[in-house]
Amino acid sequence: MYGKITGYHVDNNKVRIDYGRISATVEAITPAIINIFLPLSGSKKPSHAIEGEKGVPVDLAVKQEADELVITTDQLAIRVGADFKVDFHTRAGQVICRDYRGKREAFVRRGKTSLIGEEGHQVVAHIGGNRVEVLKELIGDEYFYGLGETTGHLNKRGYQYQMWNTDDPSPHTESHEKLYKSIPFLLTLRKKLAYGLFFDNSYHSFFNLGKENGGYFYYGAKDGNLNYYFIYGPSVQQVLAGYTYLTGTTPLPQLWALGYHQSRHSYDSWQRVQEVATAFREKKIPCDVLYLDIEYMDGYRIFTWDRERFADFSAGVAKLQAMGFKVVTIIDPGVKKEKGYPVYDEGLKNDYYIKDKDGIPYVNRVWPGEVVYPDFSNAKVREWWGQKHRLLTEQGVAGIWNDMNEPASFDGPIPDDVTFNNDGSPATHAEMHNVYGHLMAKATYNGLKTLTGKRPFVITRACYAGTQKYSTVWTGDNCSHWEHLRMAVPMLLNLGLSGISFCGTDVGGFSFDCNGELLARWVQLGAFFPLFRNHSNMYTRDQEPWAFGAEVEEICRQYINLRYTFLPYLYDLMWEGEKTGLPLMRPLFLSYQDDEETYELNDQFMVGDCLLVAPVLQQGQRCRAVYLPAGEWVDYWSGERHRGPGYVLKKTPLSVCPIYVKAGSILPNFPVRNYVGEREIAELILDLYPGEGSYTHYQDDGETFNYRAGEYNLYRFTQRLTGDKLVLDLEKTAAGYERSYQSFLLKVRGIAATAVNADGHEVAFAKEDGGIMFRIPGTTKRVEIRME
Ligand code: GLC
Repeated sequence: MYGKITGYHVDNNKVRIDYGRISATVEAITPAIINIFLPLSGSKKPSHAIEGEKGVPVDLAVKQEADELVITTDQLAIRVGADFKVDFHTRAGQVICRDYRGKREAFVRRGKTSLIGEEGHQVVAHIGGNRVEVLKELIGDEYFYGLGETTGHLNKRGYQYQMWNTDDPSPHTESHEKLYKSIPFLLTLRKKLAYGLFFDNSYHSFFNLGKENGGYFYYGAKDGNLNYYFIYGPSVQQVLAGYTYLTGTTPLPQLWALGYHQSRHSYDSWQRVQEVATAFREKKIPCDVLYLDIEYMDGYRIFTWDRERFADFSAGVAKLQAMGFKVVTIIDPGVKKEKGYPVYDEGLKNDYYIKDKDGIPYVNRVWPGEVVYPDFSNAKVREWWGQKHRLLTEQGVAGIWNDMNEPASFDGPIPDDVTFNNDGSPATHAEMHNVYGHLMAKATYNGLKTLTGKRPFVITRACYAGTQKYSTVWTGDNCSHWEHLRMAVPMLLNLGLSGISFCGTDVGGFSFDCNGELLARWVQLGAFFPLFRNHSNMYTRDQEPWAFGAEVEEICRQYINLRYTFLPYLYDLMWEGEKTGLPLMRPLFLSYQDDEETYELNDQFMVGDCLLVAPVLQQGQRCRAVYLPAGEWVDYWSGERHRGPGYVLKKTPLSVCPIYVKAGSILPNFPVRNYVGEREIAELILDLYPGEGSYTHYQDDGETFNYRAGEYNLYRFTQRLTGDKLVLDLEKTAAGYERSYQSFLLKVRGIAATAVNADGHEVAFAKEDGGIMFRIPGTTKRVEIRME
């Protein structure tokens, strides 16, 4: 295709490789991250996903071997050959990933598509044909993950997915190749070795993972450049660190954002919102956030509210605030096309909308009727948009929900040739479609940041790679179907493996009617989602925790309480994630990569390193098998100990979601509160599972960015068993935040003790649930528990 290498030139980290008519580049961003670039449609444009300079000095050696160029870093040997075929090897010579050189050929398909089409069957006979395409050999042992928000199972091998943000409310099934988000990042695990491929091309793209043919997989796009990053592990954790080094990590949210959220399309008056708020407090079901969906607006005009149903807006918000609630309002991108509507007029006057091929603001239809679309690819528009939120923040609104930002268009697809400003280098809709929601979330985040000074809470439906820097996400319009409860696990795990660690599905399901058993199981699972939000569609039956009778209400209360108990643990994980890129909700192989049994577990996951959750995902299921990897595990409910690796059977009456804790864990807990901030937490509970282990707990003000200037505390807890003693060391390793815990309440599981000693003083203890419980001052350095 491009022929043989005709020459090359090395410039620091970058090697230009000439092929007669075209020159490619191979650039070492770090010793483990390599950018592969071929200018198929012009020179490299700034990435929407990667911000700032990421290159570091790399020791690069380049030599020619026969027809190949061999480029080496400390970690990799990259062999580049004729036709710009690129292979990645370890320094020891092991092949990690190589381009496919065989014949391209689809699996045999027989018969007539016209005939089956007659009956309405969908015909899928897609083969390649993309302008940009990379074929990689299927060596045979690949498991594929990532790719953002996808239906189906954890492992993507054998399937095809498309990246083209799509608002498709039909019940999502395995045959949906595209949904609301485009995250062209593929994580491959080959037995013990992992690598990532980030295809930073925003056009409509395809990932075919052995569906076309068992000999290769490919990714390609309809247009743009061949531009991808190879990210070496060998651990999955290192691949994720590399990917989030490029595209950014999820910043630590405000603590309340990890609480329980209640939403509805739509609570349509202050009276109804107030009823819901009061019910939460009366029923003592914790809840931090209430949402106002589109009905709060005046005729679906963004940045307005209905003056009757939501009269005296700031007073309505203030009333909820006084009860401990945060209010999040929806803001869609479509601006109603209506002369005299200030937002529309302002945008028109300033030339802020995307335009059709004749240079006129492009019009389509969404909730308000005819709308125009702000051009978020223009820095001025992002700034304008961000500042528009002042109207809402001044009323006390605490967060913003960005929806319909694929962007949705009820009157058919937006034509490819609609134009965007793209910060001065004009681009078409074909190029900008997939980054529209990303740029909207970025504008919203930056606006909220300057307006409030606090860590912004933004939730978005559409995304591109890197959106994690600006927003949490939910997975759009799912259904109250058991199938969608089941799918939530691999979907969120793969989002986490695509950098989007702060994510959730609509708990209870959005479309169709939920039922009590389904809600109970979804709340049990949702208690471990990074984003825990119950939401449902207009005209479906009520779906609040109390809507299905006393038994289900009690189960919801129990698991929402559990969420609030685990809050400090979840917050610690988000803090860790900002540094490492690791998600909160993790597939088991993230921690147990050497154990192949974990590679295709679709129905259980880890929360951090300590908790293993095995939810019930089927109607009527009263018992389930749980895989426990190597080590000792404690049943959270019964205290029973199990040694992994192996399967255990757990009885699962409706009130039980199986949870296992790794022995040696020290879990920080908070007492249950109706909402974050209801009472100050002066005492941290330590739920301790005897064994060897240590844990770092993080504490800050829970809302500002002061932690970035060092205003936080770190506590390191280390436990070990020596003879008949369990010894716990407590250390404060950072002390930048003025408030500290005055005491610790220890709950030591599964031991019989004869004495407890803290820094040389005897401590009284109580026996509780097959273990012991006692309180020590916050300044304690060492605890020794003598066991029977
Ligand atoms: C879309 C959203 C849904 C929202 C509705 C009305 O369907 O996905 O969450 O409730 O629009 O705004």
